[in-house]
Amino acid sequence: MIEKVLETFKEKFGDEGDIRCYFAPGRVNLIGEHTDYNGGHVFPCALSVGNYGVARKRDDRILRWFNMTYPDDGIQEKSLDDLGPNDNGLWYDYQQGVIWGMQKAGIDIPYGYDMVMFADLPAGSGLSASASIEELAAVIVKDLFRPELSMVDLARFGQVSENEYNGCNSGIMDQFASAMGKKDHAIFLDTATLEYEYVPLNLANEKIVITNSKVKHKLANGSYNVRRQESEDALEDLKKVVDIKTLGDLDEEGFEKYKGAIRDEVRRRRAKHAVYENQRTIKAVAALQRGDLEAFGHLMNEAHISMRDDYEASCEEVDILAEEAWKLPGVIGSRITGGGFGGCTVSIVKNDYVDNFTRALRDVYKERTGLEAEFYIVDAGDGARRLD
Ligand code: GLA
Repeated sequence: MIEKVLETFKEKFGDEGDIRCYFAPGRVNLIGEHTDYNGGHVFPCALSVGNYGVARKRDDRILRWFNMTYPDDGIQEKSLDDLGPNDNGLWYDYQQGVIWGMQKAGIDIPYGYDMVMFADLPAGSGLSASASIEELAAVIVKDLFRPELSMVDLARFGQVSENEYNGCNSGIMDQFASAMGKKDHAIFLDTATLEYEYVPLNLANEKIVITNSKVKHKLANGSYNVRRQESEDALEDLKKVVDIKTLGDLDEEGFEKYKGAIRDEVRRRRAKHAVYENQRTIKAVAALQRGDLEAFGHLMNEAHISMRDDYEASCEEVDILAEEAWKLPGVIGSRITGGGFGGCTVSIVKNDYVDNFTRALRDVYKERTGLEAEFYIVDAGDGARRLD
């Protein structure tokens, strides 16, 4: 993959000088959805697909970028002195936002760079294509100019880009997973403290299968921000009766005790999801650590139902994928993954049943929606890095 990107770089920008190669992954979240901006836990892993980049430092302050995934955009040129938020949410905006965030934090980026990139994961599917683009920019800037930045810093600047430059009020899960991923592990992250633990995914007899509904979601300015607002409103109501900082501070019992303080029924369901989903995530990781995959799968299914009914962040097509998956043999668990309102499901399927799973689910999905689902069997991969 990287060879093609390198070749294109040389065609566009010449082959002299110190040319470097990079990769930043997308992620799949196994459980813990819409908990990351509610002070809860998440459990994502980085994928082995994402965005590849080839870059070379310049001697002036110009950025020149070309994306092989969007060749019609041509070479995008911008000065380091001319960055500012907008609401386009395009591939170069995500990267500009990372650099802008660093500048805003007083980190000097002395020079620009030429860069060519290419994605081998689908955008708008809940697999964090945008975070992968952000972390690609972040790791390039770290390597070329700012080696003292930590990988957690890079995750933070990715979130700044998303929130302040691109108008999506997301949490830090996606950028954290892309920056901090570890091969064959998922990351159990407490988003309130950023404490984390790598948990081995010892799936000897099962595969992680992602199913793309092909219903695209666009999170910025849309329902995602509305959900976040609803959660925050519910928190404000709760704070009047109980001393908490985030919804993640409550467990199920605490929620049931105080939920009456949330005035609005819709907000009450949003908060319920955030609280129960956080507890489910903690329980799911414990189940995985004691080797109880069945319990993990059961919690995944419950997580889907909660996203569908309480958080209302699924959609009809993705519900069909999850609900049909539950009926198939060899399926340990299946749920919507990522921001929602379209995108993908993640399923854990026993090895011997994977072929049957993809065939049967493709057929029934086609029959019920007219859409052609896509399947990816994935491994947990390492985080953003220089390749050579
Ligand atoms: C998107 C956001 C994340 C997280 C998920 C939902 O992927 O970028 O921060 O909130 O949705 O869990």
